[in-house]
Amino acid sequence: MALRDRVLANQRWYHAFKQALRADTTMRTMVVDHIRPQTGDRVLDVGCGDGDIRRLLGEVDYTGVDTNENYLRVARGLEDRSTRFVSANVTDLARLGFSEFDLAIAVGLLHHLSDEESDNLLSGLSKVLRQGGRLITLDPVFTPDQRTIARVLAALDRGRHVREAKGYCGLVESHFAVRSVVTRHDLIWFPYSHCIIESESLPANT
Ligand SMILES: C[S@@+](CC[C@H](N)C(=O)[O-])C[C@H]1O[C@@H](n2cnc3c(N)ncnc32)[C@H](O)[C@@H]1O
Repeated sequence: MALRDRVLANQRWYHAFKQALRADTTMRTMVVDHIRPQTGDRVLDVGCGDGDIRRLLGEVDYTGVDTNENYLRVARGLEDRSTRFVSANVTDLARLGFSEFDLAIAVGLLHHLSDEESDNLLSGLSKVLRQGGRLITLDPVFTPDQRTIARVLAALDRGRHVREAKGYCGLVESHFAVRSVVTRHDLIWFPYSHCIIESESLPANT
């Protein structure tokens, strides 16, 4: 593992890194503009990290899943009757016995997964969301019109699978009905481009 990846796998450094990015503001915008949780929603957060987004989601029933024990140790401090964290690989959701979520979020996850891993994840998500349930993904993206610095930063991301919007979209639409694909250059205070995809689960057997 590269030094940068080892450093960021440590919760303290990851937290400091997110503070420098002012990730709180980014998350707040994501929740208001794209995630739009409804009171009472059952929310599944895949690749939840330290679960920071939980407190922005309001009165929902929340389950976060991640493999990084350092992040999960911090996340578990947020656990209560409506919040739980599970240590598991999200490319194998079937073994967790989940069902009937209203909303799934994958914030900064797909660009860490190969096409095959993403396909396993998305297939699993399509089975644990109720019919008409929504999936929101956010990832760094390559676009023809982005600033050079944004492109370089995306290329340097520790996720080895940063794609163009059509790359993310092609993966999602194998299992979901894509409702919108938005590229934003304004979610962080320095030049950076994100792709946000909102999709809906399809009726079973389609
Ligand atoms: C860029 S971080 C995003 C964390 C969180 N969603 C956030 O926005 O702060 C990506 C997260 O995905 C997790 N992750 C990557 N591959 C995973 C996998 N196969 N199963 C579960 N978690 C995974 C990492 O451990 C990390 O916490």
